[in-house]
Amino acid sequence: MSYSYTDLLALFGIGGAHPGGLTLTRAVLDELPINEETALLEVGCGTGQTTAYLAHHFPCRLYAIDQHPVMIEKTRKRLLGKQDSISLLEGSAEDLPFVDNKFDYILSESVTAFTKVQESLKEYSRVLKQSGTLTLIEMTKLQSLSDHESRELLDFYGIHDIFSEEDWLLHLERSGFKNVTTFSIQLEELVPDEDDFTEFDISPGVDPSLFDKLDRHEELTSKYKNKLGFRVFFCKKA
Ligand SMILES: C[S@@+](CC[C@H](N)C(=O)[O-])C[C@H]1O[C@@H](n2cnc3c(N)ncnc32)[C@H](O)[C@@H]1O
Repeated sequence: MSYSYTDLLALFGIGGAHPGGLTLTRAVLDELPINEETALLEVGCGTGQTTAYLAHHFPCRLYAIDQHPVMIEKTRKRLLGKQDSISLLEGSAEDLPFVDNKFDYILSESVTAFTKVQESLKEYSRVLKQSGTLTLIEMTKLQSLSDHESRELLDFYGIHDIFSEEDWLLHLERSGFKNVTTFSIQLEELVPDEDDFTEFDISPGVDPSLFDKLDRHEELTSKYKNKLGFRVFFCKKA
């Protein structure tokens, strides 16, 4: 059986699977005034590390969605006892099961790059209030890649494209985001809390080939450390 990179994350239960992990999430959330009235959607919640953090620290109307059933199962397990106040759904970023103009904030941490970007950004724009903010933490190309390098990354990560900052800005503009700022932050500037670490919650009986896939991910991370990075975008429709 062949597994995708997302299967690897799901079956190993890797939480905080975005650049900067929970440390960066905390810094980003500090920029957003969230209160009890706030409707917040986390797209691609993965194993729910950020969802649980939000539920614990921010009183708001919280929604989380992911398309991978194992991710949803692991988030559900993590949120046991707290689920009454959180709407957790299996579904896709390209076809969000929400009415127009519902959310004050949408957060996507290393998710949108894995989706059909033009479709998911249009969906975010549709379900976000006119005054709302979309926050993306996304894989970004820092230097040009050869065709061979691009193919290697696209095949391994199962993605359709690798965007530079300019590409992201162009796609955001095309999707109705008129006011986009890039949050410039160096990971070295951030001070981690004692709880900020990459977590593992391994499913029983995982296929041993997945350990090779994890090694391959680590090899690629090291190989492309100067060519691939991330950007944080705060995006408004007005
Ligand atoms: C790299 S993981 C990041 C997970 C989580 N945000 C985190 O930081 O730990 C990407 C997540 O996006 C989800 N995902 C990928 N494509 C998606 C789509 N089209 N719709 C919804 N979720 C998607 C995957 O299932 C996975 O949980």
